Amino acid sequence: MEIDRKAFLDSLGGADAINRMDSEARADALEHHMLSQLNRAIGADQNGEQSEAKQYPTAAEVEAQIETRPFRQGAGFLVVPRTGENVKRLPPMPENPTLLDFFKLRFMETANHVLQSATLAMKTGMSEEVILACLLHDVVQEIIRTDHGWWGAQLFEPYVSEKVSFAIRYHQALRYYPDPAVGYVYPDLYRTLFGSDYVPPPYIEMTYQTVRKHRWYMDARMVTVNDFYAFDPNAVVSIDPFLDIIGRHFKQPKEGLGNDNSPVAHMWRTIARPDQPL
Ligand SMILES: [Fe+2]
Ligand SMILES: [Fe+2]
Repeated sequence: MEIDRKAFLDSLGGADAINRMDSEARADALEHHMLSQLNRAIGADQNGEQSEAKQYPTAAEVEAQIETRPFRQGAGFLVVPRTGENVKRLPPMPENPTLLDFFKLRFMETANHVLQSATLAMKTGMSEEVILACLLHDVVQEIIRTDHGWWGAQLFEPYVSEKVSFAIRYHQALRYYPDPAVGYVYPDLYRTLFGSDYVPPPYIEMTYQTVRKHRWYMDARMVTVNDFYAFDPNAVVSIDPFLDIIGRHFKQPKEGLGNDNSPVAHMWRTIARPDQPL
């Protein structure tokens, strides 16, 4: 499909606004734009004239998009950037890297989104564990996006409380299910990403049924409530307001993440050195 580049950039608020978006937001926006163009074309075709654009694709149409991309949607942003340009050399990591070093040097595409979510969680008076879960909930998408709730929980499990990793693990499944009692509605973005008639696979449904009866349900649910994906390109975010919470609730290994021989040290090394071929 041909993209009217200028119209697309203008619709997002110009180049500056786009530079401030993380690549998930950028990819979503581009997809959204392509879809609305596609849908307009389909509408025009069927009616013989430009009709009101159909708002969301079907799951089958989403499936048909797979072969329009040079990457798979499950690939992490750090590993497969979505800009289409050559990758850049990454800044070196310190010898004993901390969570903060990863935020500054490797979580380039996800930091803005999780910081916006954690900022919202802090503003809405969430517990420190929920705020931390919000701060960490999507950063694993730097290396892998598929099943990122489970991957993300594993990445952090040795360093955070069980409740925090629970909230990270299950926010992924809960996002498909509304909870009107706390004002969580099914995201429109999912209609775009998965198709208007998408039905989550059985393992997601089973997980939801189990988690909603769990005593920590609300902790995981609050990650979805504060999940800030109506991205705000003008938001200025910083990790500074969260340093105390990280200090209290994140067990930073003194050898550095990746050097600590934990069961997930290899995952941290992979984020630190994504250019390593084997
Ligand atoms: Fe997520
Ligand atoms: Fe998120």
